[in-house]
Amino acid sequence: MFWHKMPIEKSKLKMKLDRKEILKALETITIAGEGKNMVESGAIANVITFGEEVIVDLVLHTPAMHIKKRAEEDIKKTILELVSPDAKIKINSKVEVADKPEIKGKSIPGIKNIIGVASGKGGVGKSTVTANLAVSLAKMGFSVGILDADIYGPSMPIMFDVESEKPISVTVDGKSKMKPVESYEVKILSIGFFTSPSQAVIWRGPMASKALNQMIFDADWGELDFMLIDLPPGTGDIHLSIVQSLPITGVVIVSTPQAVALADAKKGVSMFMSEAINVPVLGIIENMAYFTPEELPENKYYIFGKEGARNLAEDLGVSFLGEVPIVQSIREAGDYGRPAAMQTGSIIETVFEGITRNVVQEVVSRNENLPATEAVKITTMAGCSAVKK
Ligand SMILES: Nc1ncnc2c1ncn2[C@@H]1O[C@H](COP(=O)(O)OP(=O)(O)OP(=O)(O)O)[C@@H](O)[C@H]1O
Ligand SMILES: [Mg+2]
Repeated sequence: MFWHKMPIEKSKLKMKLDRKEILKALETITIAGEGKNMVESGAIANVITFGEEVIVDLVLHTPAMHIKKRAEEDIKKTILELVSPDAKIKINSKVEVADKPEIKGKSIPGIKNIIGVASGKGGVGKSTVTANLAVSLAKMGFSVGILDADIYGPSMPIMFDVESEKPISVTVDGKSKMKPVESYEVKILSIGFFTSPSQAVIWRGPMASKALNQMIFDADWGELDFMLIDLPPGTGDIHLSIVQSLPITGVVIVSTPQAVALADAKKGVSMFMSEAINVPVLGIIENMAYFTPEELPENKYYIFGKEGARNLAEDLGVSFLGEVPIVQSIREAGDYGRPAAMQTGSIIETVFEGITRNVVQEVVSRNENLPATEAVKITTMAGCSAVKK
């Protein structure tokens, strides 16, 4: 056998992509929310070429998934159209959020902050607020978990569309642990994963406390910046059991503007702030503050009265964290299993971004100004007298 040199067609020769040409092409792309093109804004951290291959290092300043996806698609399309249709493009994306405060705090190993979402009255929107706060925190780049502690009516499996899922068992450091179910970048454990709604009643009392303890300590939560706990309504045994087992960073109280809800919210605030319990109240959120039709967001109808929760917060000397309007899509999104704050460009996304920022700010200042909360040891009946562990 002998070889002879075959003439190589020029088109088959691997061409070398020109880095400068690629950068010039990328100057035609602007990322949503940034005035400058992606090269000028610093989003393109590096471009490397090897023959037909090009590696683009992309740094984004927003954790929003849709913006990342869009930017990656635009880069690929632009290089293929303006530089070479044969380019093989690889994009390494990284998110660096400039205004995301560094979250300190140490509640239990791996979990920096535990936030209870409570109310006095039932049905005021605790679960809705918990779900939307969680996705909003995740969008800001925080790692988030939800513990659904509502033994009477667990809502998180429905609100996150994971009703048919079950936590699996994993082995961590030789111990068997349950792995939270994950949906929309939020880790979730709910008493609803272990029981059908008709069985809820058997969870009352010590069994419920034991199940909650297992969901907290025998679970593989990994590293969390925030664990949100969706509490049942009222100020009952479960609340005491949770403050006894967990060092809660603080609670957020949800209320609607009606007098009855406000009176119950006040009881809730008093319980957490009582000397015996002494869990910081991060603030009050007013849910169903006014009705607004989504297509006419400037029209606000204060059907349950105006600013009741804002005034209550002022009276009690706690922060007012914001108001959530009644919007049909909130209820629909909850039932459908995709929290409304995930919908890009919606009023609810904006509303929850504001509230979430306020909550994070409260946590940051709480951690700067107060010592870590310790689990409370109740020595006598229902908080009549209590000492710190
Ligand atoms: N701002 C809102 N706009 C429209 N619907 C809302 C709003 N907030 C809550 N809802 C709806 O009201 C109902 C009750 O809300 P949710 O389940 O969050 O209350 P809850 O306080 O957790 O109730 P429970 O005390 O039973 O746990 C749900 O159907 C929810 O979708
Ligand atoms: Mg609920």
